[in-house]
Amino acid sequence: MKIGILTGGGDCPGLNAVIRGVVKTAVLQYKMDVLGIHDGFYGLVNNKIKELTIGEVSGIMPRGGTILGTSNICNPFRYFSLVNGQKVYSDVSDQVMKNIKANGIEAVIVVGGDGTMAIADKFNKMGVPMVGIPKTIDNDLYATDVTFGFDTAIVTATEAIDKIHTTAESHHRAMIVEVMGRNAGWIALHSGIAGGAHIILIPEIPFDYDAIVKKIYERKGAGKHFSIIVVAEGAKAKGGDVVVKKIVDDGTEPIRLGGIGNRVGDEIERMTGIETRVTTLGHIQRGGSPSPFDRILGTRFGAEAVNLIANKDFGKMVSLKTPDIVAVPLDEAVGKQRKVEPDSGYIKAARLIGISFGDR
Ligand code: F6P
Repeated sequence: MKIGILTGGGDCPGLNAVIRGVVKTAVLQYKMDVLGIHDGFYGLVNNKIKELTIGEVSGIMPRGGTILGTSNICNPFRYFSLVNGQKVYSDVSDQVMKNIKANGIEAVIVVGGDGTMAIADKFNKMGVPMVGIPKTIDNDLYATDVTFGFDTAIVTATEAIDKIHTTAESHHRAMIVEVMGRNAGWIALHSGIAGGAHIILIPEIPFDYDAIVKKIYERKGAGKHFSIIVVAEGAKAKGGDVVVKKIVDDGTEPIRLGGIGNRVGDEIERMTGIETRVTTLGHIQRGGSPSPFDRILGTRFGAEAVNLIANKDFGKMVSLKTPDIVAVPLDEAVGKQRKVEPDSGYIKAARLIGISFGDR
């Protein structure tokens, strides 16, 4: 059997562990041939497809990113091109079907987030056998307990918050750390708790500036002249809206968030007169060597995806239902976001140790 694998959407740590897991299982257990599709769905449209051998995946486990390349601005059902300087969108799914056939690919493993899974689901329904593997640092995919990439991102963010503590304490400042996560607060919540933040602002709990300032003064009253505030990029004030950094209208998810950290910082400084600084962590959260957890989850996902193909169990996405790896239908996995529950155990524990979510 000949199978293809592509990585789509934003990169994240652990993708290479998945690729390695797929190739090793396919070759060693099932004598399959594996073709690497480069740059996500762009590679299927433009036939950027090459054989992927065991030799090529050797030693890639500790590397961040994806050896196959990726794209989060390629949707074959709304393919972007420039014609006479004008943006033109067209459906090039027939080109994808042609390339899959020409390369003798019998099934495709698609590693990606919600947008990538939605595209895979469409092709599966058009008769191309597809199996999905969920990834994203945001940890917001509905049908799995955890996505790989998230653990490494929170390790990176926690290290950054640890380092921010020293300047906060030395200068008696309010220090804000803005983290990624789109419309879900998982990265902020986990890194905020692990990094000892005093205030955590997440999209699921809209905040109030008075409540933030109250917490800062409470700390001051207790002799603590600095505060660490972790802000998710999707956080918003009560009755307010998210801060949009830019619109990328060629992708499956056009809105790029960013800037709420500066807005909160300006307001704290205006209301309290306390010197405030903002650090936006940005893409370093997506980079670096994957944590052992992400390497292991990626390996398990890769191996199970190949098992599904060998059993002709197509149209599924592998998923972690702790402690097992299971398969869920692709169409049940897409379109629904997994958000932080405001009354979850994580939030309750954080509140018990005095962390403020800026809401009361
Ligand atoms: O989904 C992963 C993510 O890193 C988000 O946390 C962030 O909002 C977005 O991607 C950034 O996308 P880009 O790399 O296109 O700027």
